Order: sequence, then C-alpha cells, then structure tokens
Amino acid sequence: MRFTSALFALAAATLSLASDPSDCSTTSKEKTGSDFKLTEQADNANVASLSKIFTAAGKKVSVADVFNDGNHQMTTDSSGRKLWQHTSDFNDEDTTKWVPQGITSTADALDAGTYEGINGWIVSWHRDDDKSVRITFVNRADDGYRHALLVYPHASDNFREVPVHAGGIMWYGNTLWVLDTYNGIRVFDLTNIWQVGDGNGVGKVSSGVYSAAGYKYVIPQIRWYKWSSSFEFRHSYMALDRTTTPDSLIVGEYQTSTSLPIRLVRYELDYTTRRLKTDSSGVSKAIWAYCVNIERMQGAVSANGKFYLSRSNGASKGDLWAWVPGGSAKQNAGFYPRSPEDLSYDKRNGGRLYTVTEAEGVRYIINSAVSSPSSWAGISLLSLGFVALLYVVEKLFFVQPLPKGVPFIREPPGATRFSLKTRWAYMTDCANLHKEAYEKYLEKGQAVVVPGVGFRKELILPPSSYKWINSYDDNQLSACHAFADYDQIIHSLGNDIYLLDPWQGTTVKNELNPSLDNLMDALNDEVGVAFDTYLGTAPGEWVEVNIFEVMKKVIAQANSRFTIGLPLCRNQEYLQTSLELNEQFITSAGTGLASPGVLRPFTTRLAAIPLRLNLRKLRNLVRPIYEQRLEYLKRPRTDPDPNEPRDHFQIMLGYAQRERQHELGDLMNITTRLATANFGSMHQSAFLMTNLILNILGSEKEFNTVSVLREELERVANSDGNPDTWTKAKMAKIVRGDSVQRETLRLHSFGGRALLRKALTDGIITDTGIEIPKGCIFSVLSYAVQTSESKYEQANKFDPFRFSRVREQKQQQQNQQVGNKEGGAAGPPLTFVSTSMDYLAFSNGRHACPGRFLIDFEIKMAMAYLLGNYDLELPAEYKGERPPTVWMTEAQFPPKEARMRVRRREKV
Ligand code: HEM
Repeated sequence: MRFTSALFALAAATLSLASDPSDCSTTSKEKTGSDFKLTEQADNANVASLSKIFTAAGKKVSVADVFNDGNHQMTTDSSGRKLWQHTSDFNDEDTTKWVPQGITSTADALDAGTYEGINGWIVSWHRDDDKSVRITFVNRADDGYRHALLVYPHASDNFREVPVHAGGIMWYGNTLWVLDTYNGIRVFDLTNIWQVGDGNGVGKVSSGVYSAAGYKYVIPQIRWYKWSSSFEFRHSYMALDRTTTPDSLIVGEYQTSTSLPIRLVRYELDYTTRRLKTDSSGVSKAIWAYCVNIERMQGAVSANGKFYLSRSNGASKGDLWAWVPGGSAKQNAGFYPRSPEDLSYDKRNGGRLYTVTEAEGVRYIINSAVSSPSSWAGISLLSLGFVALLYVVEKLFFVQPLPKGVPFIREPPGATRFSLKTRWAYMTDCANLHKEAYEKYLEKGQAVVVPGVGFRKELILPPSSYKWINSYDDNQLSACHAFADYDQIIHSLGNDIYLLDPWQGTTVKNELNPSLDNLMDALNDEVGVAFDTYLGTAPGEWVEVNIFEVMKKVIAQANSRFTIGLPLCRNQEYLQTSLELNEQFITSAGTGLASPGVLRPFTTRLAAIPLRLNLRKLRNLVRPIYEQRLEYLKRPRTDPDPNEPRDHFQIMLGYAQRERQHELGDLMNITTRLATANFGSMHQSAFLMTNLILNILGSEKEFNTVSVLREELERVANSDGNPDTWTKAKMAKIVRGDSVQRETLRLHSFGGRALLRKALTDGIITDTGIEIPKGCIFSVLSYAVQTSESKYEQANKFDPFRFSRVREQKQQQQNQQVGNKEGGAAGPPLTFVSTSMDYLAFSNGRHACPGRFLIDFEIKMAMAYLLGNYDLELPAEYKGERPPTVWMTEAQFPPKEARMRVRRREKV
C-alpha cells in the first residue's frame, strides 16, 4: 500500500512537473500557452483630459509631424549600417546615459509598410537608471531623426517619466507597445503626441506649460497589459507577426544561463481594436509557449512559420539564429556586430530583418535580408561541395612552386599542406604564428613555410639570407613580379604593366627625391592648411574627432601637394576618390588572393568593378590638369618654362615623354599610374600618422611624450630664427620625434613581411642550400623580427624614446664604443629612414621604399604643426591607453574608430 501510494505520488509529481510553465528541463519543450496571462487594465482616463489641453493649445501633432521634424542625422557606413549622430556637440553613438533597446518600423504599424506616408523606424532607449524611456523616430527618406519622451499621465493635467527597460517594442496601428520587464506590456497612444516646451523637468511646469527633459514631444501611456500569472516571466523583447491569422505578438525572455527558463510565447491580436484578444474578464492567454534553450537571446521575430533570433556574446560579435519549431535552430555565428538587441520584420523587399545594437561606439541600426534556415543549410552544403570541387581542380591545375624539404610551421615533418587548425591560426592569430616561425626556424638560420591568404603557402627565408637576396638582380629574383602576383592587377585592371614596369615608382627615387629641398615649403604649407581645414582654427573649445578619418585626409592632401600640386590637392572630390581607390586596390587584391586560382580571374574582376569606375572618375578629374601640363612639355627640355611645376605628376609626364612615348597620350594609363603612386604614398602613411598620434597620447602618462616632443620641435624650429621654415639640416636635428616615428613603425607597420621576390629562372640556390623553383615567391618576416626579444628589450612595449636615447647617448660618448642590442655606436644608424635586418618597415636593399625620405619630413612637419597648434588628449573612457591595432590575417590596421579630443591652442 505504501509502495503504491509512493508510486502514485511520483506520477503526480511528474505530471505536475510536465505542466510547470517554468520548467524548461522537460523533454517536451512546448508549454501550455494558456498558463501565460496578461490582463488588460482600464484605459488611462488622464490621456483624454491632457489631450484636450494640448489640442486647445495647438500642441497636438501627428506621427508624420515628428518624423518630418528630425533634428539629428544618422549616417551610413560602408556596410550599409546606420550610425547614430556623433558630432562635436552631440553624441548618441556612445552616450552612456541612454542605451538603445527596441526596434519597430512602419512595416509593423500597417501592412502597407508606410504610415501617414512615412517609411521609418522607431527605436526605444532606456535611461541608464531604467527610470525613463525615450523613443526615436528615424525617417528613412533622409535618415534624419528625433527623440521623444514616453510619459505616464498620472493626473488629469500632468504626466511623469515611464520607469521601464523597454527591451522590446512593437508598433501596431496607432499604438506603440513597450515592454515592462516583469510587469507586462505598456501601450502608448500615437494619436496623442504632444509638443512641450524647453526645460529639464518632466510634466507640468505651470498651468498649460509642460516640459519633458528637453525633448520636444511626449507620447502618453494609454493602456497596460499586466502580467497576471503566478510565476515570473521576463518580458525582454517582442515582435509583431502579421503572417498569422489573426495577427499575433511574440514575447521572449533573455537569460544568461539555460538553468533558468528561456521561453517564447505568442498572443493573438485584434487588428480592429489594436488590442490583445482577451476573454470577458480582460485576460489574454497565450496561444503558444515554448522553451528555447539559447542563452542571451536579445530579440525574436516570427514570419511564415519561421523564427529568427538574435543573440549577444559579450564583447564578441552577435549571432542570428533561424528556427522552425520542432526542428533544431541553425546558428549564423557572428552575423551581427557586438550586442544585437530586439528584432523586427518587414515583408517588403524580399523580407528584411531590423535590429539595433546597444554597445557604446558600435551602435547601429542594421537592415539585413532574411534567408531561411533551409536555404542556409542548402547553401552550406552546396558551398561545401563547390569548395571540394575547387580544391580538386586547384590541386590538379594550380600548383604553387615551392622548394622540397622545407618544414611547414606547426605541421609534422614532411607535411606538404596545412591543417585547418594552422590555417585558422593564420586567420586569427598570425602575429603569434609568425613569432613561432621566427623563434623555431628563422632565427636559427632555417627557412620555413607559413600559411598565406586563401590557399597560399609562403616560403620564408631566414633574416641571415638578406645579403644573398639583395645580391640578385631583378631578372632573376624580381620584386615587381612578386608584387604583380600579390596585387592581382592583371585581373583587376586587365594589365600588369603598372607593376612590371613601375616607372611611376622609379621616378620617386630618381627624380622626386633629388628635388626634396624644393618641395619642403609647399609641403609644410599644405600640412598646415590641411590640419586647419580638418581640425579648425578657432581656439578654445575641445572637440572630439575620429583620428583615422582626419589623418587620412591630411595625408591625402599633403601628399597630393607633392604629387599633383595645387589646386587638385585641395579638391575634395579628387582626394575622396583617391582614398577610395586605395581601399579598392586592397579589396580587389585580397579577393583575388583569397580565391582559388581557377576562380581568380572572375572574382577579382568582379571585386574590381568599383575600382575601375573610380579610376574613370579620377581620369575625368585629372584631365584638365593633364592637358595644361602637356603644354609645358612642348617647350624644349633644355629650355623649360620657369613656371613648369616640379611635382611628381609633371615628373611622370616628362619621363613618359622621354621613355614611354606610347603611354604619354593615354590618359587612362597615366591616371592608373597616378592612382598607383597615390596608393604607395598615401595608404601606409595614413596608417603611420594614426598610430603615431595614438602612440604619443597613449605613452603620455609614462613618458610625458607630448611635452618632450613639443620642446624638441619648437627648439629645432626656432634654431635658425625661421620657425615656419623647415630645411633638411633642421629635420636632422629632430631626434626624439624621429624615434617616436621609428618606434611606431617598428610595432605598428601594416605588413608583416618584406623583401618579397619571385624567382624568374630555375636553378637558384639560396645561401643555405635551398633550391628555389622557378615561379616560387619568397620573403622574410619583418614584424616578427621587429618584436623579437633577442633584438629589442621589452620588444612589445611602445617606448617612444627607445632610439633617441641611444642616439643621444652616442652623441655624448662620440668616440667611445658603446654597442648594445639596439644599435649603439657599433650598430646601424637608428633613424626612421635607415633600414636594417632588425627594422624592415621600409624593406631593405634596392627595393626599399624610396618615399621614406619625403614621408619622414612630412610626418615631422605634421607633428610640429599639430603639437604646436593643438592640445590633444585621449577621451577619458580610454583611461590613458591607446586602442590596439586590429589584425586581419598578416596585416595590421590602426583602430579605425579611435578618437581623440582636440583643442586649438591660443596663440602666444
Ligand atoms: C609610412 C609610409 C610608408 C611605408 C611604411 C612604406 C613602406 C614601403 C615598403 C615596405 C616598400 C617595399 C616593399 C618590399 O619590397 O617589400 C615600399 C616600396 C615603395 N614605396 Fe613606400 N612606404 C611608405 C610611404 C611611401 C611614400 C610616401 C611613397 C612615395 C612618395 C612611397 C613609394 C614607394 C615606392 C615607389 C616603392 C617601390 C620601390 C621599389 O620597388 O623599388 N612609399 N614602401
């Protein structure tokens, strides 16, 4: 008997567990929908009385009025994401006071997709203390936007803030639904939007006078669906589903652990009243509830029977999941940037998903296409099949020449290919992979093969082979052919003459450099004009700027002064096009390299379409100058016009007239050469300038870098009584500034390799006895050497005066042999421009960068102007530390979002 009752009790307990709406550990994940209840509360009568007050005062406005009254502006980045306004006087992008949470759109509001003729989004933001909510009307016609405040009418003539988190919102007809985490849903009345006056308070100021914390419009709460089940439900996000009959509403929970219930529930809506369907007691019971065991879900929508779920992953990128109830969810990992939140669906344009991301600095509205889970699976399978096919074709027809017997990093002896693990390490942690290659093989004088972009394998020779490399001429070991292979311009531009016969580069070395002295004044002038343009000239106010954006423009303008001169060097369209071309050269080369050889001609050509279009644009911009410049060439070269410019463009035209006459009349050819020269001169220089500023500011705390540099730059500038004029002799006296430049490139140069060469003949044997087959490309590692502890003490630390200390000491002990690791009296010169096997940022030997002398002067002029005329500091939230560079495979990029605060100094 006792045994039977025990069994019975157990069965009863199991039964009750199975129906427990809060138990998600059960085998069946479906829960009883009717257990999830929301009870409609009486409408707020104060809305009507307040409405009368505002109507009488002529202060009641429509939804379209607010959308059309935008006072801020979203911008669009290159990935199509919308960014909140971040200007010197306004910052939604990383304010900590308000955090974006929910999103809905006019496509939720009405099936037609527009509301009062507007196509727009509404976004909710909770205040940092969760005691107030603002919502944003974004007009998609021009991306203008305006915030408004949600209010709760607590008296017939007054209202106050709404203290909720607003994790999800939904726009349905003339109502806006906002989640109140543990209390249910609040509904706001979009037929009652009231205009209020200025003032910090929220509510009535005096009879007929209202304010709302500075916001111009308020929207009152009209209704409340109160959570009325006995267990807790966390209302974290919501979305409308118009594809069910009747329309329905999805609400879901966010939890950081699946040990707590994570449920989605669906309620039915009545489209005639824009309310939840309720029974006669006003209770709305969910028609479906389900446990979805995905942690950190931040948003959910359903459409046509499929769910899309967003998930945040702390500081990492967010995921998008697709799921059909009954099946398993498919993860599209890293689909979103960091911290995606609520989701909203729009059936237009093939189905769109909208989300907002909340993390400061990476706050976007993201509008992406919907793809179904089945098609993801299908696409993945198809892609796998395709990749397998390509692999076979690649293996059979595209063999990359490599010498035999050279070890493959992290692979067993005798390996001839890389495991996925090593390829993954190349993609995600290349700095350490190269470091290992250096320490295990190269430093000991042995060659090694490391992974490269796409399917490539890269032969790396030890640094000790550099003399041997430089002993060969270009007919046997060619730098140009190696670059042409990497840059893929045969596919992107249809012609690799620009790299195989790169006379636009040789003219830098042979003709531009010898006339450096004559360029100094113009260069200095342009540096000043550029900083004045992009950072302003009015003393006093601190402003915050994006460092890379400013430096890119300053470098483009200053370099264009010596490349093509006035007026084009100040033509914003010319500068912008040149900068875009720089990015496009990289994109098309990267696409080509990452594609298997069989596909390369197609993928590169396709990726280069924007590049070609922009080249045409550049050609049109250059045409008038080109025609003027050709006129000068009509004069005999023995008797040139004294006014003939001596910039790089004119030097190029003169060279073409003398040596490549068939190219001179081909403007497209000359334009492409100019764009290639611009790439060489601008791209890495802008990176250097950005990292330099970040390093100066980031080392300020420990080294007082700004004042040390200011003192030196001012002292040297004044040393000949002409502070506004720079000469080579004065430049040579800038030792500490030079050290900061060199230290920046040591740690933060763009590429990790140097001395790239391609073997054009068979039978070449290295100094260590390796037989290099024809067609093989090899190089040496630069970053790994430059950050090796055996070469530099505290190698990974930015020490601004690392080199000037040695130089200054050397100066003091002139005749004494000091000799130390970092090149004392016995070591190589330690200036920014002097190359050695310990410092390969400009490569070394006959193909070392010829532009380094010019850029050296330009960066020094830029430092002198910037530090002399502006106060600079990192934003407080960086806590004195520079944001790190970003690695993509073997390339190092400056942090493109990094900002600094700038204030023009008062003239003394
Ligand atoms: C910080 C700025 C710069 C850096 C870090 C840099 C770096 C380099 C490197 C590493 C190479 C050699 C590639 C190799 O053989 O491995 C190179 C080549 C070259 N650079 Fe620069 N460069 C910079 C600025 C400039 C400027 C301003 C110009 C033009 C005024 C320029 C023109 C060239 C040319 C023409 C070559 C090809 C040299 C040859 O193959 O003989 N560079 N640069």
